[in-house]
Amino acid sequence: MNTSFAFLGDILSTANRNTLIELAYLLAAGLFIFSIHWMGDPKTARRGVFAGVAAMSLAVLFTWARPEVTGYLWIIVPIALAVGPGVWLSNVPLTAVPQRTALSHAFGGLAAGLVGTAKFLYWYLHTPADLTSFRVGAIVLEVLLGYLTFTGSIIAAAKLQEVKWIPQRPWVYPGQNIVNFISFGVAVVLGVLLVVNPTGPYALWMFAGVVFLAFNFGWMLVMPIGGADMPTVIAILNAYAGLAAVAMGFVLDNKLLITAGALDGSSGLILSIIMCKAMNRSFSNVLFGAFGQVQQKAVGGEQKTYKSETPEDAAAIMGQSSLVVIVPGYGMAVAQAQHKVRELYDQLKKRGVDVKFAIHPVAGRMPGHMNVLLAEAEIPYTDLIEMDEINPDMPQCDVCLVLGANDVVNPCARYDKNSPIYGMPIIDADRAKTVYGVKRSKNPGFAGIDNELYFLDKTRMLFGDAKAVVGELVKNLATGSGMH
Ligand code: TAP
Repeated sequence: MNTSFAFLGDILSTANRNTLIELAYLLAAGLFIFSIHWMGDPKTARRGVFAGVAAMSLAVLFTWARPEVTGYLWIIVPIALAVGPGVWLSNVPLTAVPQRTALSHAFGGLAAGLVGTAKFLYWYLHTPADLTSFRVGAIVLEVLLGYLTFTGSIIAAAKLQEVKWIPQRPWVYPGQNIVNFISFGVAVVLGVLLVVNPTGPYALWMFAGVVFLAFNFGWMLVMPIGGADMPTVIAILNAYAGLAAVAMGFVLDNKLLITAGALDGSSGLILSIIMCKAMNRSFSNVLFGAFGQVQQKAVGGEQKTYKSETPEDAAAIMGQSSLVVIVPGYGMAVAQAQHKVRELYDQLKKRGVDVKFAIHPVAGRMPGHMNVLLAEAEIPYTDLIEMDEINPDMPQCDVCLVLGANDVVNPCARYDKNSPIYGMPIIDADRAKTVYGVKRSKNPGFAGIDNELYFLDKTRMLFGDAKAVVGELVKNLATGSGMH
């Protein structure tokens, strides 16, 4: 049990084995890059997933084959223990994927932090000469980013899962901004002192201080951020986890880890920038914007009323339209209505109606959520239109069917400075000639605010579960009831 991959060792000399490992790493790095490239297009996304899995399998197997890796038991037992939670995590519903992703980042961050801690302690206690300033610098970065990602991601996952003990709203107190900056500053100062004198008399205490502050900084960073900014936070934590892996690569002298970590870090960063743009938030505003500000829920004085419509009448109007734009949202995902939506699409197309889907970049609960669901129902990609492209056409739209969407069509984002979604670009559903809103109740959406779209004169509500309501629309269109 205390030798590395025995069969490889027998076949290959150490030199040959190292060359083979380097080649496998090169192949894995290439596969990682292609994996991300292929995942950028729905047509090649599946190939991208397989490439990623192949790259990771190569990375694990050939790292295992490195001559310095010994002690199978310490590798096999954790892998065996991780299989159960891994399978469980891979089976969560699509609506829970953001919090599942946050948990994955949490585990990745924790692993990086633990590896950094173990390396520091080992070198400090056994071979202090190995504890160079460069290595300590990499370890401090790894530990800071790793533990910060761990606690930050746990809070992000808990907020998205809406667990009772974590407030969804920004959790703020006076001077929070200053406390956070000071604690981060102290961690950086301790890190610099460690780099200057890695084996000094107080090095262990200083390292413990960095670890303590990193753990704290993660949750302190995410608690003041409101639910609506959580998707962006998760992408930022993704970037941190990637950067922690890069630092770990330097600590372990593993080039593949540096490459894969850099890919992970930069893609997380790019995704967070795209999402910031989609929500009209600056990067610093997401991270520090809620510091010191408690979002006030805007409560209108007068009682607003909804106007309801029957599926029969709505189907009749839709059947006679030239252009119907469907705005899918989180409710379509909850109801799993995508296949019924496909039937509606077919029925309308049969009548010569032009049907388009307006896709908001943060509709649902994860990037690309609506695209994935509609692709599952085999709705042609050419009819899925991005927000910026469909908005100019909205005034020509006869019927806009808002299907379980709320925040992404809320006109208050344009002008209400007190609204938590102020400044977020929206789909201009209110500019359509007629609006049908499908939802189950009068409850608000993710941001917890009323939607003025639903009180407009041109809007009619079709209350009910999205799948059932769309099913009714399909039935009425198919039988032609209500058609003139
Ligand atoms: P939301 O604002 O969350 O609104 C969803 C609506 O669907 C709710 O009003 C709800 O009303 C309705 N609904 C729920 N279940 C339904 C069902 N079975 N049938 C019919 N309706 C149902 O969704 P959105 O417009 O897609 O906006 C997304 C929000 O989530 C944004 O605020 C965004 O920032 C945030 N967010 C996005 C992401 C990403 S990356 N996409 C990740 C996390 C958070 P009822 O309860 O009355 O039915």
